Amino acid sequence: MWGATLSDIRPSGTDHFGRTLTGSGVLRDIGWLATCRAEGQQADIHPLENAAIAWHGGVIDWVGPQDELPVEVAERETHSAEGHMVIPGLVDCHTHLAFGGWRSDEFRRKLAGENYLDIAASGGGIRKTMRQTREASSEDLIAHCLHHLGQMTALGVTTVECKTGYGLSYEDELRVLRVYRDLTEKTPLSIVKTLLAAHVVPHTDECNKNCYIQMICEKLLPAVAQEGLAQFNDIFVEEGAFTADDARRILRVGQSLGLKAKLHVDQLGDGGGGALAAELGAISADHLEFTSAAGRKAMAQAGTVGVCLPFASLYLNQPPMNGRAFVEDGVSVAVATDFNPGSAPSWDLPLAMMLACTMSRLTPAEALKGATLIAARAIDCESDRGSLEPGKRADFVELSADNVDEWMYHFRPNVCEATWINGNRIH
Ligand code: NIG
Ligand code: FE
Repeated sequence: MWGATLSDIRPSGTDHFGRTLTGSGVLRDIGWLATCRAEGQQADIHPLENAAIAWHGGVIDWVGPQDELPVEVAERETHSAEGHMVIPGLVDCHTHLAFGGWRSDEFRRKLAGENYLDIAASGGGIRKTMRQTREASSEDLIAHCLHHLGQMTALGVTTVECKTGYGLSYEDELRVLRVYRDLTEKTPLSIVKTLLAAHVVPHTDECNKNCYIQMICEKLLPAVAQEGLAQFNDIFVEEGAFTADDARRILRVGQSLGLKAKLHVDQLGDGGGGALAAELGAISADHLEFTSAAGRKAMAQAGTVGVCLPFASLYLNQPPMNGRAFVEDGVSVAVATDFNPGSAPSWDLPLAMMLACTMSRLTPAEALKGATLIAARAIDCESDRGSLEPGKRADFVELSADNVDEWMYHFRPNVCEATWINGNRIH
């Protein structure tokens, strides 16, 4: 029985982010539990019925059928899941969490037929949020982020990747990364930081573009690496943003400084983004609405995670990523919100999962593994989270649903009954 390895587990005392892990206990009366262990295909979520889970020092040390619960854990504080379904804490592996202001005017304009590039060209889009973000104080940005994170926790999210990309200057990109660093002390959620200085060029002519890229490569990336402010380096490769050659240059400099590469690619057209991500050994390629079969195969071979972002396709009225084809071609597919004030103004990851099923043709089980274990893989923390098994963090969620099929099918506003982080019930 794979769960009965109590004596083998040695809680390290700290998590992936160096934070002290606390709490020990047992959760019993779990009607249906998805372990989401890695073995097998993306659809293999290794469920258990009538299960229990035990943890010590914030780390899981036993998961299995309740009637096999070892006597050693019986003295721990015991909680009842009252027959609820339990899943690993959800991991939102792609958000643009810190921004100033919203852009509801653009929602109306898009519905009236204007496209994303037209809106950007007329002073809206990412540069509008850049101006509003620069005007916002760090305290305001932190307060807004904490509000959003609180809402995410209530939906069962326990780890959030946060990109910059609305500062777009040396000072403001660093400032937003420091906002994310300071957030870590103020929220029980885990925050994973990504530099997206190469979101768009803050000015519009070519000369400034070259200066901007030079600034990122020669000044900003070294400063970020020196201060340990981000783990990942991302770029938006698209008409009106950056080219494949810009990506090669910026991402390789980041890699030489220890920042892993991520890319926003093939969102508005096939720019060869899948193959580019594979060539660069990127940890993930995100969006992928227009990626070709050759791009999918290159990603499968390189082990690059494909991140499905249904809200962006929905809000921009674009064809969705063909998640089914990615899975069938052997790519691990994560599901995330892309939460941002333009193309994806929602932090609702369970809703994004349901849309990944209906729009991108993932099965509910694939969407669940995509928002837990595979999402953790996309942000390089699969070793300590994303599944419920001995040795992983005690991050899990109780849902009032029967199982993942019923949860995704009979979609209700929020079925999250409790969110546990490090073995502590925080919602
Ligand atoms: O991931 N694609 C580029 N960036 C964001 C949109 C940002 C915005 O519109 O503010 C995205 O969809
Ligand atoms: Fe994005």
